[in-house]
Amino acid sequence: MHLVAPSVLAADFTKLKDDVQLADRGGADWIHIDVMDGHFVPNITFGPVLVSAVNRVTDKFLDVHLMIENPDFFLEDFAKAGADSLTVHYEAVVHLNRTVNTIKELGLKAGVAINPSTPTEMVKEIINDVDMILVMSVNAGFGGQKFIESSYRRLSEVKALIPKGRDVHVEVDGGVTTDNAGKLVKAGADVLVAGTSVFKSGDIPSAISKLKSARPA
Ligand code: DX5
Ligand code: ZN
Repeated sequence: MHLVAPSVLAADFTKLKDDVQLADRGGADWIHIDVMDGHFVPNITFGPVLVSAVNRVTDKFLDVHLMIENPDFFLEDFAKAGADSLTVHYEAVVHLNRTVNTIKELGLKAGVAINPSTPTEMVKEIINDVDMILVMSVNAGFGGQKFIESSYRRLSEVKALIPKGRDVHVEVDGGVTTDNAGKLVKAGADVLVAGTSVFKSGDIPSAISKLKSARPA
């Protein structure tokens, strides 16, 4: 059964607590938090203070997506803020093995994300060390963008790289809706990140429930 991780980037920040708790009670498995630095991606969002605030209003697993350069400088801060998982970008890190090991030494789950233009085989070496590979299905930086169709194939390629017996999540992020959820699960995704289609749907619990009940199609 796949997991659903609503992305708070699309929440109403004037009532973030309400939106997070609606998602929590509405059946979200994880809460996805998008950290952007204005360098790795052309947008700035939030840092450890926001992670800590979300951590105080929900007990859900906090899936923190770091779209930042030099993530090594901030891993400990995010761990202290209450992150359960830290995902760094393949394209942003030089010594990926070291960064992933640091995340695990902090006691957190470690993920590696790849942008739509990064060949999927680039995760081949690191896949033995991570808990999750995140396949970006839009260009990282903004919520509400159009889903990139090649992502189905890319999810299948990443899934096929996972060695037998290893438990590695395959997460898809960007443009996920109730319409493409079934096809994404069929392609190999087992964690669906959804921002706009959950928080801007007008009915957060119902949107989550539809994403949860998507069947491979
Ligand atoms: C984009 C972020 C996504 C974003 C997805 O760079 O990583 O997590 O919130 O938003 P939607 O679901 O609106 O495409
Ligand atoms: Zn994200």
